Amino acid sequence: MTLKLRKLSYPLGAEVCEIDVARPISESAFGEIYRAFLDHGILLFRNQNISREQHIEFSRRFGELDRHDSLPRDRHPDYPELLRVTNRQNSDGSPSDSRYTGRSWHSDMSFTTQPSLGSLLRAWAVPEVGGDTLFANMYLAYETLSPGMQKLIEPLYGIQLAGTRKINDPKSGVPRLEEQKRINPPVAQPVVRVHPETGRKALYIGDKVKRFDGMTEEESAPLIQYLVRHATRPEFVYRHQWRANDILLWDNRCTMHQALGDFDETQLRELERTTVLGTPSGYVVAAA
Ligand code: SIN
Repeated sequence: MTLKLRKLSYPLGAEVCEIDVARPISESAFGEIYRAFLDHGILLFRNQNISREQHIEFSRRFGELDRHDSLPRDRHPDYPELLRVTNRQNSDGSPSDSRYTGRSWHSDMSFTTQPSLGSLLRAWAVPEVGGDTLFANMYLAYETLSPGMQKLIEPLYGIQLAGTRKINDPKSGVPRLEEQKRINPPVAQPVVRVHPETGRKALYIGDKVKRFDGMTEEESAPLIQYLVRHATRPEFVYRHQWRANDILLWDNRCTMHQALGDFDETQLRELERTTVLGTPSGYVVAAA
């Protein structure tokens, strides 16, 4: 099989056309998909009206799946491999705890010592307009820094925190942020990460980075802000406009993303994500 690809943007992404991920995919066809994933950083599969089981089964082709122990509030009660991102109200009428998931620049599970290889986000329902997700190419972000800046940041480790937004849990009153902190101690990750499969260097930064290990927050802030601003320059960013039954696969080792709140919150935005485990990276630090 020769994969039919359509580029999504200059910096990132390709749509895989004429494919049904629920049908058997041979080893060689899957090899082509995996090659395209490494080459483009993001793959889009449109019109995939599949079941949760089929979403999980297809995702398993990419590696072992996270059971989301570090984000227990957001995982699906019957499918621990699925993480819910929804503004659908709970059955008691309270707001969904995951309605703001992903609303800052991040790479999935960077706050753990086994950050994700890739994620497969499936859209069940999307607003009439908006609810888009931005993705930044972190290879380009690294490669376009000056040699002086590359040398400066090479030895740095960024201390990453799980939660960045305070949402009170309507049921227990326990702030979500406090729970995330308790389950996930701060983890230091290299600011420059070598992609384990392509060997290319990528910037590994985002809004979850509080400070650099060995530096204060005040000292770290200007450089963190500069690097995030640099990485998210429009020419490095792809903006995904969701359609129901899209499956978007991205490589967390060379991209970061942010969900936008650019939609009418009275309309339903409901997605589910599988998270493929990556290789160990970083170390736990005693205090943030
Ligand atoms: C996520 O960060 O996994 C969710 C992104 C989105 O809702 O668009």
